[in-house]
Amino acid sequence: MAEGITAVWKRVTPELRDELVAFWLAEGALDDAGVAEARTEQVVCIGREADGSIWGVGTAVLQVLPQLGQPTYACRQFFSARRRGKGQMMAFFGVVRDTLELYNQALAQPESIGILLEIQNDMVAARYQLAYEPEADAYFIGYSPRGHHLRVVYFDGARLLLPPKPAQRSPPPSGGAGAAQG
Ligand SMILES: CC(C)(COP(=O)(O)OP(=O)(O)OC[C@H]1O[C@@H](n2cnc3c(N)ncnc32)[C@H](O)[C@@H]1OP(=O)(O)O)[C@@H](O)C(=O)NCCC(=O)NCCS
Repeated sequence: MAEGITAVWKRVTPELRDELVAFWLAEGALDDAGVAEARTEQVVCIGREADGSIWGVGTAVLQVLPQLGQPTYACRQFFSARRRGKGQMMAFFGVVRDTLELYNQALAQPESIGILLEIQNDMVAARYQLAYEPEADAYFIGYSPRGHHLRVVYFDGARLLLPPKPAQRSPPPSGGAGAAQG
């Protein structure tokens, strides 16, 4: 098993699936083996130590964020405790992004316009405060319901894939701005 960061998107073998489940449970990323097993289908790339053990996992799931109205790959990264804080996040993310972009480009019909990141790690959120972060090519687009930064990395030349949703008309709340005055 090669040391370094390797793409495994859509190529997770039963052996790798078992390794990933064991890694997540041992590192406390997940505590339910069933949930972990299901998540192995989302794995984009992994990082391996020189001894072959896994130290990092990047996952992606296609989703339409309501405020964006377009499909993106919602991506997460998780590193082993001893590998954190060593400045490898961007290199790892670069492999995730390139893997997904090439996969999407090769589809007869693209399924995603880019990558969505919910920055759940407070130290990472504090470090990246520009509305546009050139290092990751990532645009701030607002906050998630949990209050984390949401960022989007658009794929090169991405075209919008979905039409706008029809505007939802709801009656104004009584006493609200739309209520009759007088
Ligand atoms: C989030 C995670 C993948 C980041 O990886 P990492 O290896 O720790 O990140 P890096 O070392 O590349 O650091 C990225 C930036 O965050 C900041 N940062 C990271 N760890 C830090 C620490 N311990 N103290 C202060 N700042 C820190 C740094 O400022 C760094 O910027 P710099 O390279 O300009 O100094 C990793 O910490 C992790 O797996 N955390 C647990 C799971 C998690 O929170 N996942 C995020 C879900 S989206």
